[in-house]
Amino acid sequence: RQSSRISGILQSKTLDDNIQIQGWVKAIRKQKEITFIDVGDGSSHQNLQVIVPTSKLPNGLGFHSCVSAAGILKSSDHPNQEVELIAQQVKLHGATNQTEYPFKARKKHTLDYIRQHVHYRSRTNTFSSLLRVRSQAKYHIQDYFNQEGFHIVDTPILTSNDCEGGSEVFVVQPGPEKSKSSFQSEDKSYFNKPVYLTVSGQLHLEAMASGLSKVYNFNPAFRAENSQSRRHLCEFWMVEAEESFLQGLEGLQALMNRIEDLLKHTMRKIVELQPEDIFFHWKQNPETENLVKLALEQKFLRINYQEAMNILLANNSSFKTKADYGKDLGKEHELFLTQSLGNIPIFVTDWPKDTKAFYMATREDQPNTALGVDLLLPGVGEVAGGGLREYRTAVLEKKLIMLDLQNSLDWYLDLRRNGCAPSGGFGLGFERFLQFLLGTPNIKDTIPFPRWAKHCSC
Ligand code: 4AD
Ligand code: MG
Repeated sequence: RQSSRISGILQSKTLDDNIQIQGWVKAIRKQKEITFIDVGDGSSHQNLQVIVPTSKLPNGLGFHSCVSAAGILKSSDHPNQEVELIAQQVKLHGATNQTEYPFKARKKHTLDYIRQHVHYRSRTNTFSSLLRVRSQAKYHIQDYFNQEGFHIVDTPILTSNDCEGGSEVFVVQPGPEKSKSSFQSEDKSYFNKPVYLTVSGQLHLEAMASGLSKVYNFNPAFRAENSQSRRHLCEFWMVEAEESFLQGLEGLQALMNRIEDLLKHTMRKIVELQPEDIFFHWKQNPETENLVKLALEQKFLRINYQEAMNILLANNSSFKTKADYGKDLGKEHELFLTQSLGNIPIFVTDWPKDTKAFYMATREDQPNTALGVDLLLPGVGEVAGGGLREYRTAVLEKKLIMLDLQNSLDWYLDLRRNGCAPSGGFGLGFERFLQFLLGTPNIKDTIPFPRWAKHCSC
């Protein structure tokens, strides 16, 4: 017989139905005659209570054992659920060795502890609800872009370009060794040039936007950051969008509208469609509910770098690292800004051009100001970054020559030489977005298998 998913059973609540379920034991309450077993199968946050004669319990049944049970669905007196399964038998598929198994019933494990057993994490309530939210958020993001006429483009993981120029690239293949003599010049390497793992698909997206107009990707990005911070991973997922025909100050406003729309759409869908998963997290991080609701109700604030700096410099004594005019913002500055401006999301625009990468366009009336934007979210800080792209061939060429990138990025310059459209785009850090939505203190608890410096388990 086919087993049913527990979420479906709890939704339809068809009494007296003969059903079979399978899943993992989340709680056992043993009495003399009968035993109550809560079984969860990952389909939703809820478990189904199974009632079985104690004499029929299989040996070795314990917390997180894998079981199946068949019986009749009846209405329940249980305060938290309307139906329960009256089973004649429970079949044990996989016992758990209760002395070795790291998770215990009725024990509150910390996220740091749970993370040490990353391969078992999907059985815990906290992590399974994160995984469901993550899965659906990915779907809603794609749904948003689809509705808005964007095409998904899979940008490469292996690349010979370092898009951000921060040199935090993972090298897959170093450059070919310079041979000592021209007689032994056979190059044994796979590629004949340096190749890295991508830090961002932006440059490739720009190429595809100059033909499809509206494109996006949803890819892993790799950055060899040596940071032990709670908001950096060395493998993270980024949603990047690129849109042709965005230009000037108006284009930058349109880009911010796009980012705000995408975030609101995705947050609204999750709150509407997965209330149990989301409330479970909000209960553990009580201030998050208010922050997400504010972000949904309010228009995101838009300030420029100068205004941000005025606030920071007036409060500079309160920072560990002082804010410095002309420099990028640190996490403490970002958090201070969102907190002091009403705990709502803030776009910061008009950055000093030296704080941004070579591809960023500058303002026509202020050549030292980049048409870039960072989105800061309360409690997390920068969650998205983007801007308009430099499309003047001569200006871009000069910058590339200065950075000695004119050869490796000749193809990028070519896009300006032929059929160039002004464009703009952004990258949203998917894990940082989940951190905001759920209030997750550490980014490592928003991704199934986190990787960071010195850590690549499983
Ligand atoms: O601000 P970033 O570096 O922007 C870019 O890569 C652009 N090329 C994007 C574009 O315009 N297409 O990265 C974008 C976002 C950041 O705002 C942050 O949320 C996230 O990616 N991010 C990280 N998330 C987790 N761990 C890291 N090490 C991250 N580095 C960046
Ligand atoms: Mg950035």
